[in-house]
Amino acid sequence: MDSTALSDTAKMLVADNKGLLAIDESTPTCNKRFAALGISTTLENRRAYRELAGHPGEKVTEGLDGLRDRLREYGGMGARFAKWRAVITMGEGIPGSACIEANAHALARYAALCQEAGIVPVIEAEVLMSGVHTLAQCRATTTEVLHAVFNQLYTQGVLLGGMILKPNMVVPGLICPQKATIYEVADATVECFLRVVPAAVPGIAFLSGGQSGELASARLNAMHVRFAGQLPWGLSFSFARAIQEPALAIWHGEQANVPAAQQALYHRAQCNHAARMGLYVPEMEWANAIA
Ligand code: 13P
Repeated sequence: MDSTALSDTAKMLVADNKGLLAIDESTPTCNKRFAALGISTTLENRRAYRELAGHPGEKVTEGLDGLRDRLREYGGMGARFAKWRAVITMGEGIPGSACIEANAHALARYAALCQEAGIVPVIEAEVLMSGVHTLAQCRATTTEVLHAVFNQLYTQGVLLGGMILKPNMVVPGLICPQKATIYEVADATVECFLRVVPAAVPGIAFLSGGQSGELASARLNAMHVRFAGQLPWGLSFSFARAIQEPALAIWHGEQANVPAAQQALYHRAQCNHAARMGLYVPEMEWANAIA
């Protein structure tokens, strides 16, 4: 394992207030998003949409079996990073500790195999937003999940300097009656991470989890406003829906709409770039609407 190369790649992924566009949905998920907008769910359309955003093609979905060989093959072809997602649902009596441990173990196994192949693992541990849970409950579960993940990363010898963590923000469940302000979310999220994410990790890149683009930008921005100069890691974004949704609606499967859809992607990228510096303001959205 070349730890310098891994650490250089990981740092590059969160450098210069940049972030990542996640456009690697599985075929069923991509089809679901197309169907919701009445776009026909063909291979050609999936390719055309991903090419619009500069992504090379269809996603390769893997289980842990055979992963070592596949990672070596892709590492040899020049792949520099890869992502694995584990999903945790909150509800009555769940998640149990067996669920958390099994997911943490699989994420760490994948991460160790990635690094062995010279690939930076993006470790996505997502506590889902669906449910009635409160902000405090989401914080407690996110803390427990991340403790388990970092415990397994340590046990399995994963180089913390050569990975990126991709977590959820700490938010109340979608149908929780007690809403939280942007600043309550920012404080709960960063305070949780300061306690569980080691300073050796170069970057945290949030998933959006179904938040709107505007809300995801505003919350990321609030974290930077509140904690400027106090964070040991880069605090970035790796959004799918919160960047893609407006562009997908504009594109609608039509070649003629590609420039406008690309402009919508670019706009969300600019908003999130500004949010990383604590410089996002809602007026950025109005300016785009007028343009
Ligand atoms: P969302 O930002 O839509 O949650 O997706 C992130 C992702 O990459 C899911 O694997």
